[in-house]
Amino acid sequence: MIAALALAAAAVLAPTTVAPAASTADCAAESGSFTWGFKESFRAYISGSIANGEWTTEGGIGYETPAFFSDSLAGSIALDPIDGSLGVDGALRFTGHDGILDTTISDVRFVVESPERLVVVVDIRGTTQDFVPVDSADVPFLTGDLAAAQWSAGGDALLIESIPLTLTAEGADAFGTYPEGEAFDALTLSLDTTAACATQAIEARTAGGAVPLIIAAGVIAAGVGIGAVLAVLLRRRRATMGA
Ligand code: HEM
Repeated sequence: MIAALALAAAAVLAPTTVAPAASTADCAAESGSFTWGFKESFRAYISGSIANGEWTTEGGIGYETPAFFSDSLAGSIALDPIDGSLGVDGALRFTGHDGILDTTISDVRFVVESPERLVVVVDIRGTTQDFVPVDSADVPFLTGDLAAAQWSAGGDALLIESIPLTLTAEGADAFGTYPEGEAFDALTLSLDTTAACATQAIEARTAGGAVPLIIAAGVIAAGVGIGAVLAVLLRRRRATMGA
């Protein structure tokens, strides 16, 4: 009896594989838009009395207080499961201190690696705060926490709002002032697709995260229950043998 219960407990506690949600190859986004303040404290420093500077934009990127934006993101992001990248041929250029500070961030790409993680990849040209020249292509500048963002289906778009962004080690080296882990402004992405695909992307995201957590909690609860039964049985058996 005890052996049978132990076997049952082992079966319940054995690692389970959760079948991935069925994917629809057609669900993708090949264009989109973003709004992003870059870093509010940096904008305040540039436009304030210390740097006395300004910023300009080029190509497909524009600025409308308080954020940079683009409606011309292009590329390909599969939506179920979410994976791929969209980028824009454009730049943000910050100048100040009568031209001593001159930093250009260009070729901005948003690489979605999973429903949890995004990487902002850019080219950076300028100098560090200590005037060391920088000219680096394809820098994985910031990482984004997609799990902490708000996902919604808005018309024919998948909206991913308020993606928290933090500076990578490579980004810290290239920008040359802020430390790794420094928070930049949150990013909002809008991916052009169909309403059905946007909904599917949101459901696939949930299937990849929350549901396995619920299953894991259930398995642990079952394990704890069986363990308690085993303990009671063992105690009774010992009591019987001792009597
Ligand atoms: C004439 C040369 C420069 C002077 C006198 C200068 C001065 C300053 C000062 C006084 C601050 C502190 C501002 C505050 O606390 O509000 C500051 C911050 C900063 N400087 Fe410079 N700086 C110079 C060049 C540069 C260069 C070349 C860079 C390269 C990107 C740079 C990037 C920064 C950044 C990122 C901050 C932090 C802004 C923030 O988020 O608060 N500076 N600088």
